[in-house]
Amino acid sequence: MASAATARAHTNIALVKYWGKKDAELRLPFTSSISMTLDRFYAQTTFEVLPASGESEFILDGAVVRPAAAERVMKYVKLLQRRFSVSGNFRIVSENHVPMSAGLASSSSAFSALAAAFAKAYELEVSREELSRMARLGSGSACRSVFGGFVKWEKGTDDASSIAIPLVEAPTIDLTLLAVEINTKQKLVPSTVGMRRVVETSPYYPTWVEDTERACTLMEEAIRAEDFTRIGQIAQQSALDMHALNLTARPGFTYFQPETLLAISTVEQLNAAGVECYFTIDAGPNIKVLTRAGNVEEIVSRFKQVLPEVTIAASSFGPGVEFLR
Ligand code: PMV
Repeated sequence: MASAATARAHTNIALVKYWGKKDAELRLPFTSSISMTLDRFYAQTTFEVLPASGESEFILDGAVVRPAAAERVMKYVKLLQRRFSVSGNFRIVSENHVPMSAGLASSSSAFSALAAAFAKAYELEVSREELSRMARLGSGSACRSVFGGFVKWEKGTDDASSIAIPLVEAPTIDLTLLAVEINTKQKLVPSTVGMRRVVETSPYYPTWVEDTERACTLMEEAIRAEDFTRIGQIAQQSALDMHALNLTARPGFTYFQPETLLAISTVEQLNAAGVECYFTIDAGPNIKVLTRAGNVEEIVSRFKQVLPEVTIAASSFGPGVEFLR
């Protein structure tokens, strides 16, 4: 048995959002979704099977994670152990190369890297599709980080069929994503809680499901045609739809902060001035701007004028899961 393995997985950002599970335990989504994997941000994780005397632990960025905070990760590993009929206490050592200042959620890279390191440490013969299914059980969006470039998570109908597939693994389209962090320490509604609330209470949820299926088809076409404008427009509308849906939950809620609206209107003004760019927003107040490389400088300087406190990190397409040992 290999007993220890290290894997690296990059963060992905959904261009057509996943927002709602029809099976919470298996993390089966109501809709398919489409993302881009980023080159700049990743998690690197070592999974080690310990001798019988060793105690399981989770070390993140050099510090042991307290049991309460480690619970989700520990439960996830035990679930995988049951599925694959393997056992043993374990040590997880993870480095998170997703700066908190980038305002990106790190669960997509974290669970994808962990699933891959787990599979290799136990020498499991798993395909990439199977790996994406394993990652999905940790966090829905993580299944897409198994692949690089543009990726689709097929909603499927059950555990076996709800997997990610690569659309274009090494895209050549000129597309840069600017992660703009809006400085706010506001407590968030976790994505699991937010999506459950809209599924259970929003009268518009069925419309979201229909629109998102349509958006996936259109986005796939736009990606294959390397049509930056259509990709940006569809991504922006999917984000707006998701955030509008949150307002229609009972009770309604929003991830937007005043600075989020300022950032949205900055993107609109840039566009009106001929600097083509679009935005997407996840379960938080931060904004990601999609543009072409030649526009980056101008967009960054405009944002610095309007919101002097923001930090901005530029990213392009990253690879899928990589094994380091
Ligand atoms: O997989 P989770 O629970 O982190 O949810 C991800 C939700 C969004 O980031 C808002 C959308 C998506 O498809 O990644």
